[in-house]
Amino acid sequence: MLILLRSTTGCNLRCRYCSVACGETERRDLTEDDCRLLRDSLPSLLREGESVRFLWHGGEPTLLAPERFRAMLGILSELERDGHPVEYAMQTNGFRISDAWLDILERHAIGVGLSLDGPAALHDAERVTPAGEGSYARIMDGMAAMLERGVPVSLLCTVRPAHLGREAELLDWLTPLGRPVRFNPLLPLGRSAAGLAPGDYFRFLQRLLALALERQVSLSIEPLSWMLASVITDAPPRECSWGGRCGQSVFGFGPGGEVLACNRSDERYGNLRERSLRALYDADPWRKRRERSARLRARCGDCAVWRYCHGGCPVVEGEEPDAARCEARRAFFDWLRGEGLFLYQQSLVRRRSELRERLRLLRRSKEGLARHMPDDAPTEDA
Ligand SMILES: C[S@@+](CC[C@H](N)C(=O)[O-])C[C@H]1O[C@@H](n2cnc3c(N)ncnc32)[C@H](O)[C@@H]1O
Repeated sequence: MLILLRSTTGCNLRCRYCSVACGETERRDLTEDDCRLLRDSLPSLLREGESVRFLWHGGEPTLLAPERFRAMLGILSELERDGHPVEYAMQTNGFRISDAWLDILERHAIGVGLSLDGPAALHDAERVTPAGEGSYARIMDGMAAMLERGVPVSLLCTVRPAHLGREAELLDWLTPLGRPVRFNPLLPLGRSAAGLAPGDYFRFLQRLLALALERQVSLSIEPLSWMLASVITDAPPRECSWGGRCGQSVFGFGPGGEVLACNRSDERYGNLRERSLRALYDADPWRKRRERSARLRARCGDCAVWRYCHGGCPVVEGEEPDAARCEARRAFFDWLRGEGLFLYQQSLVRRRSELRERLRLLRRSKEGLARHMPDDAPTEDA
C-alpha cells in the first residue's frame, strides 16, 4: 500500500504551474494526532504482512518542524508491531535542507525525490520563491549535501512546453549528475491553466529515448525504463497512473484527517474524523474510483495498449480517457514496439562489442604483465 502524505499545505516556493496551488491558503500541517488516526485505522485495509510505503509529499514536507516529523515517523512505524513493514520516501523541492533534516533522512534511510526541472534557466523560469527568484542554485547545494550523507536522491522533472526540443540539452545536464530521473508531463491542474499536450509529451519521450540509446547513456529514466520493461517482458506498469491501481493500493492522507485520492489534486474521499477508513473505502467516491479500471476494461480491454495504460490517471483524465490522449498513447507504444525496440537492440549490440573489446584489451594487458613479471614475484597462490 502506498500512502501519499500531504505533510503540509504550505510551501516555501511558488512554482508558477503548481497543481495544488501551494502556499495560497492558510497553512495546515499534518499532526501527530492525524498520524495516530491513520496508524490505528490502516490495518483495516491491509492484508496480513502487507508492507506500507509512506511518501511524504506536500506542500513542502521540509517546512515541518524536524522534531514533529520524528514524532510522526515514530507513530507510523508502530505499524511494524502489527507485522506491516514500513518504508518512507520524501518528495521535496530541496530548497531548505538543514542539518536536522539531513540527520533524519540519513538515520531513517528516507529516499528523496527532488524536483528539478532541468538546467538553471529552464528550472528558474517557473520554480521560484515567493519573491519571484529562481531556486536552482540552492537546490543544487541541497542535493550535494544529501548525497554527501549517502541519502539516495532521484530527480523529478516536470516537462513543460519550454522543454520540448531540448532533449539533448537535458541529457547533457543529466549525465554528469548521474541520478535516476523521472519526467512527468505538466498537467492542467491548480495554477497551471494548460498542461502539456499528450502528443507533445510522448514525442518528447520518444526523442529522449532515441538520443539516450544513441549516446549509450546508462541512466535510469522513468517512465521510459518501465515502458521498455513492459514492452519486452510484459511487466506491469510500475506507476499507479498507468497501472490501473488508483483507489486500490494508493491513496492520500492530509491535515485534519482528510483522505484524498492522491496528491495531484484536492479530490477527497472523506475524513477519518467522521467515518472509519474501511467505511470510506467501501463507499463512493472511493469505490467508484477503484472500479474505474474494471469498467473501462469492458470498453478498452481489446486495445493494444490497454496493458500499458489501464485508462491512465483518473485524476487527470476523468472517468474516460479522451480520444486524443488514447491516440497519442497508441502512437507512442507503436513506435516503442517497433523502432524503439530496434534502437534498443542496436544499442545493446554496440554495448556488447564495446565490452568484448574491453575484455580483449584486459586479457592482452594481463598477458603483457605476466611476461614482464620477474620470476621471484609473488604469484596469486603464494
Ligand atoms: C506539488 S510538488 C510537492 C512536493 C514538493 N514541494 C516538491 O516540490 O517536490 C510535487 C511535484 O509535483 C509537480 N507538479 C506541480 N504542479 C504540477 C502540474 N501542474 N503538473 C505536473 N506536475 C506538477 C512539481 O513539479 C513537483 O515535482
